Amino acid sequence: MNIRTLDDLLAEEVKGRRVLVRADLNVPLDKQTGQITDDGRIRAVLPTLGALVQAGAKVVVCSHLGRPKGSPDPAFSLRPVAGRLGELLGAPVHFAEDTVGDSARSTVAGLADGQVALLENLRFNPGETSKDEAQRGAFADQLAALADAYVDDAFGAVHRRHTSVYDVPARLPHVAGRLVLREVEVLGTLTGEPDRPYVVVLGGSKVSDKLAVIEALLPKVDRLLVGGGMCFTFLRAQGYEVGSSLLEEEMVETCRSLLERADGKIMLPVDVVAADAFAPDAPHDTVRADGIPSKRVGLDIGPETVAGFAAALRGARTIFWNGPMGVFEMAAFAHGTRGVAEAIANADAFTVVGGGDSAAAVRALGLDEQAFSHISTGGGASLEYLEGKTLPGIAALEN
Ligand code: 3PG
Ligand code: MG
Repeated sequence: MNIRTLDDLLAEEVKGRRVLVRADLNVPLDKQTGQITDDGRIRAVLPTLGALVQAGAKVVVCSHLGRPKGSPDPAFSLRPVAGRLGELLGAPVHFAEDTVGDSARSTVAGLADGQVALLENLRFNPGETSKDEAQRGAFADQLAALADAYVDDAFGAVHRRHTSVYDVPARLPHVAGRLVLREVEVLGTLTGEPDRPYVVVLGGSKVSDKLAVIEALLPKVDRLLVGGGMCFTFLRAQGYEVGSSLLEEEMVETCRSLLERADGKIMLPVDVVAADAFAPDAPHDTVRADGIPSKRVGLDIGPETVAGFAAALRGARTIFWNGPMGVFEMAAFAHGTRGVAEAIANADAFTVVGGGDSAAAVRALGLDEQAFSHISTGGGASLEYLEGKTLPGIAALEN
């Protein structure tokens, strides 16, 4: 990989220079209070920001948050993130009310050496996600005009061909930040020659989202454990009734063919927790995977499945996990995710947690983050990396 790094940039003089850092500060917010519920992505970018502050750069941070539709929407403002970032950095973060307008220009102009500004949500501008090259180009020019150099530390967004990750680096001296480098190094181990047995655990709601990665991983892994909402389409493909559990009918054939080609590598649940409704207090029981009552909905993998998965994980030397095993946000249906997470944490293996949801699950369940070798900040990005796809944000740094 032919990419210049933050250390290369620091080796040049950055004191007094304006450095634009694309971060992925797309953190979950509480719908009622607007409070940040998991600041993992903010903490993940601190090493890069800290190094630039230390070196006396004028640091201009930009990010998206959520999916606003190309115009300002207070529900997706980055303002609360500026506050939290300032607390974590131990110095106030200047917040610009817009991304490339008057407020952004004057905020950046007012920065002293070693100070940090955060621009308002990139996606408040239609140019950020536009498919139109000219529109993206015009927005890229405006962003690039705010800085003298560009650092990409937004690993969670490198799979997007968006202006701030793809077009801006073409206009400024550009390097990869510490987080992007670490992510690429870790995921590179998985696509290279991982220590065996190599076991992958996949969950989450949709098979269709994971199909490409399953195809790419099957030849490489020794075991593929499938839980979460997506397991029901596989169970259906085995001929089982799944009641009112999540089911992607149009994926059943695909799952059947995957099972045929998998040579027994795919492990499916043997029992599931089936409930009367999708609700935290719904009556529920553990049932056999081939005996889900027709009116019930599977919301977690069962204890026997957890034990089987844990046994497979115990002997692994490399583990990648993406996607919760059940509706872990509801205590009654969090046992599967917790059990699998604990088995991964306890394995004597190189362990990588990929994905916003699984990373959030680790923290929400109060598990020790240090017990995992690496917790990726990228959901879609880590999956596309493992699929072997070219990631626009990485390709842009290579040029
Ligand atoms: C994510 O949360 O997956 C990243 O921040 C990318 O966000 P997006 O899926 O809205 O592009
Ligand atoms: Mg996403």
